[in-house]
Amino acid sequence: MKEKRVLAEPFKIKMVEPLRITTEVYRTKVLESAGYNPFLIDASDVFIDLLTDSGTGSMSDRQWAGIMMGDESYAGARSWKRLEQVVKNLTGMPYIIPTHQGRAAERILYGILGGADKVFLSNTHFDTTRANIEFTGAQALDLMPDDALDPEIDLPFKGNIDISKVNAKISELGKERVAAIIITVTNNSSGGQPVSMQNVKDLRKICNKHGIPLVIDGCRIAENSYFVKHRESGYENKTYFQIAKEMLSLGDAFIMSAKKDGLVNIGGLLTLKDEELALECKNLLIISEGFTTYGGLAGRDMEAMAIGLEEVFDEDYLSYRIRSTEYLGKHLKQLGIPVVWPIGGHAVYVDAKKLYPDVPVDQYPGQVLVCDLYTKGGVRSVEIGSVMFGKYDDHGILIPAPNELVRLAIPRRVYTQSHIDYLIEIFDDIIKDSRATSGFKIIYEPPFLRHFTARFGKIS
Ligand code: F0G
Repeated sequence: MKEKRVLAEPFKIKMVEPLRITTEVYRTKVLESAGYNPFLIDASDVFIDLLTDSGTGSMSDRQWAGIMMGDESYAGARSWKRLEQVVKNLTGMPYIIPTHQGRAAERILYGILGGADKVFLSNTHFDTTRANIEFTGAQALDLMPDDALDPEIDLPFKGNIDISKVNAKISELGKERVAAIIITVTNNSSGGQPVSMQNVKDLRKICNKHGIPLVIDGCRIAENSYFVKHRESGYENKTYFQIAKEMLSLGDAFIMSAKKDGLVNIGGLLTLKDEELALECKNLLIISEGFTTYGGLAGRDMEAMAIGLEEVFDEDYLSYRIRSTEYLGKHLKQLGIPVVWPIGGHAVYVDAKKLYPDVPVDQYPGQVLVCDLYTKGGVRSVEIGSVMFGKYDDHGILIPAPNELVRLAIPRRVYTQSHIDYLIEIFDDIIKDSRATSGFKIIYEPPFLRHFTARFGKIS
């Protein structure tokens, strides 16, 4: 059937949450008092919130009904049994460990596998993944193919790891030092780009050869399956669920922040094939998260997660999800806004250095766009450039990040096409206005993860 031009959402709205419409004068004041950092703005002052797609989605009526049915027993709750069954069926793995979110699973698994002298190899480590690895004294190496780092090059699986770089690293380090290979699907930190089934199969072979564990960080595994079905030959006639199941069968462990494709506001998972490792993980879980049948979650959270993990593979939902992200990206591109191409699954990334060529990198062009979007439209986004990743040399001079991007992450089932059209109109205003020629200086920053709490001053 021919795809319709209008992307009608495959759901209707049963409950509404009012949004406050504010004026540009008001938002200018709000931003000034927040030190030009949208992380420090109250959510009630935001009209469209694209800060993250994590835990910000809408649950379905079935999930809310599940919330009422949650079994809050401490051990062996009915809701846990239901979640365990759903996850076993999806992953094919026998050991299922619930956690309160993704990073708790990371801390447990990498705490055991890591340690000084160990090295983890990945397509791109997400920042909490890297932090949990480095915290153990181990090293986290990103091994992307060189061409995939070009924001404009059109590749079907731009999230893939570079297999020859993996082989070279293992030879250089010796297999004993490689704690694990982590494949992140989709690859969040490189634009939400998908990973092919072939790439994961190739990793499986390498891991078999050297006896290295393969971890799938799959918080967006359903979105990734959409791309595999539509871009990789041999998968056209498989369901999204079958594709996800096949990919997960290739891993030794699966880590999931269920706040993304679990379609819940809180929750995470760690699943394993190895019994001994699972026992060790469960012992750590009990110390910090909770007993093995709830791991820091309420029974109702597990009930909602079990339902969400089934709903996310619905064909109409997934095609609406990926097409609506693409809709935003394509329209921005048509306006002449430089976007990372092709469009990934959960977010659109704008190249702020290209949008504001006259703003020097040490005046943070990404922050200029983030502030323009808020002031002009009440839209909250996040800078992924030199504010987030910049470092200083010995003379205090900025070592900039490789790119000055702004991420527009789309929460699941939250905004309608008219919200997205509104956002496109704001970008139209931005590109038509005379473009900024100066940006910001940092007037306060903490010693690490500065983007959350830094305060900025305007350079005029
Ligand atoms: N792995 C990936 C690929 C992620 O994108 C995230 C979270 C995590 C692990 C950690 O999961 O937040 O549940 O502890 N990403 C969010 C984001 C925060 O905005 O992209 P968590």
